[in-house]
Amino acid sequence: MSNVAVIGAGYVGLTTAACLAHIGHNVTCADIDEDRISQLNNGEIPIHEARLPELVQEGLSNQALKFVVGAQRSITTSDFVFLCLPTPQGEDGRADIGAVLDVIEEIRQLVPPQTIIINKSTVPVGTIALIEAAIQREDVSIVSNPEFLREGVAVTDFLQPDRIVIGATSSEVGERVAALYDSIDAPIIAVDPASAETIKYATNSFLATKVSFVNGLAAVCEAVGADIESVTRGLGSDQRIGSRFLQPGPGWGGSCFPKDMQALVRIATDAGYEFDLLRAVIEANDQQFDRIVHKAELLLGEELAGKNLALLGLTFKAHTDDLRNSPALEVAKRLAAKGAKLTAYDPMITSPTELPDDIGVAATIEQAMTGSDLALILTEWPEFTRANWANLIDLMNAPRVVDARNVLDRKSMVELGYQYDDLGRI
Ligand SMILES: NC(=O)c1ccc[n+]([C@@H]2O[C@H](COP(=O)([O-])OP(=O)(O)OC[C@H]3O[C@@H](n4cnc5c(N)ncnc54)[C@H](O)[C@@H]3O)[C@@H](O)[C@H]2O)c1
Repeated sequence: MSNVAVIGAGYVGLTTAACLAHIGHNVTCADIDEDRISQLNNGEIPIHEARLPELVQEGLSNQALKFVVGAQRSITTSDFVFLCLPTPQGEDGRADIGAVLDVIEEIRQLVPPQTIIINKSTVPVGTIALIEAAIQREDVSIVSNPEFLREGVAVTDFLQPDRIVIGATSSEVGERVAALYDSIDAPIIAVDPASAETIKYATNSFLATKVSFVNGLAAVCEAVGADIESVTRGLGSDQRIGSRFLQPGPGWGGSCFPKDMQALVRIATDAGYEFDLLRAVIEANDQQFDRIVHKAELLLGEELAGKNLALLGLTFKAHTDDLRNSPALEVAKRLAAKGAKLTAYDPMITSPTELPDDIGVAATIEQAMTGSDLALILTEWPEFTRANWANLIDLMNAPRVVDARNVLDRKSMVELGYQYDDLGRI
């Protein structure tokens, strides 16, 4: 058992803290947000993440997990300090590591000798070296340990990862970090810090590219009369390619892909390489949002101005409450710009406070659908697949559905009387 501090109690920090406590460590998790910490101390979880409430409760009950306000209070007795801080996209495309450097400044004189600081935030290549320079402590080691969890299944991903990447200059320090994860059955990829930082960007950029590839392929399928599901079944069963991340959709988004793509383009440019492939993927993703809007226009057969649209789904994917850079919101913004009136239903979003003013929030699917001229499915929540589409049709002003997640059965929808469009299916 080790004494561990986790700084940042967001999606990554809270998951890291709860899971490390679950596998036997003594964890103190810190955040600057006092409300968040008092909520957590009361056992309330500020984000929606499967299994997290149970693990936090378990940690609080057996006192393996504590929450404190401010980084300084978490580190005084820790052997390891995890940094799980936000690194939003800066104006020039680079990730902004201001929060990471602020915390280093806050704790640098207080961390006990021999502490290992482990960075989980996604940061520009070279940040570990920057932290080493900023902390000015010969007796403290800095290690990169990028996080690959997916929101919605974050706990499972943390406890059963495909791999654990550890970037350390000293193999002995790297082994001490690896030992923290002893009870997790996953290969350890021990590399240098710059390679660890690059692996994180490479992973997200590759996945975004795969999604944009299949979105383009779906457009081709529509044009040539092929079926995207048949095509991806054949494509994905090639083991060199794999079937995951081959589902077409309204475009990629979320808190990571857009900023990580921009950051890798910027890293490459700074290093003298123009990563035009990634630029093209970013552009293709932007066009995908427009394609969904165009599908709505085509199905309506007239302009969007003044039309009532039901948006089903707002979060960037199912099983999370995260709206950051959600493709659904991107599409909504473009529909609103063309004068459409928007009413959205999302099982996780009950108040309009986090939404642009021009999106009304409905409490149920039925409420959103009532009086609508067209519905768009923008997030793949299972309840949209399970919904009673035979009844919903009576609530609509006109039965039109753009299924931007391919979650409904095309044949059944057409048989029910809907004008129905999806992505590349026949
Ligand atoms: N969300 C994901 O799915 C995911 C997955 C892998 C990697 N990442 C990366 O992990 C990092 C964190 O992402 P996140 O989604 O958890 O962010 P988040 O915004 O959900 O959480 C960050 C937390 O840090 C806190 N914080 C900010 N400054 C602080 C300070 N000075 N002291 C203490 N706490 C402070 C914030 O209050 C917030 O609660 C980012 O670099 C992100 O790119 C995120």
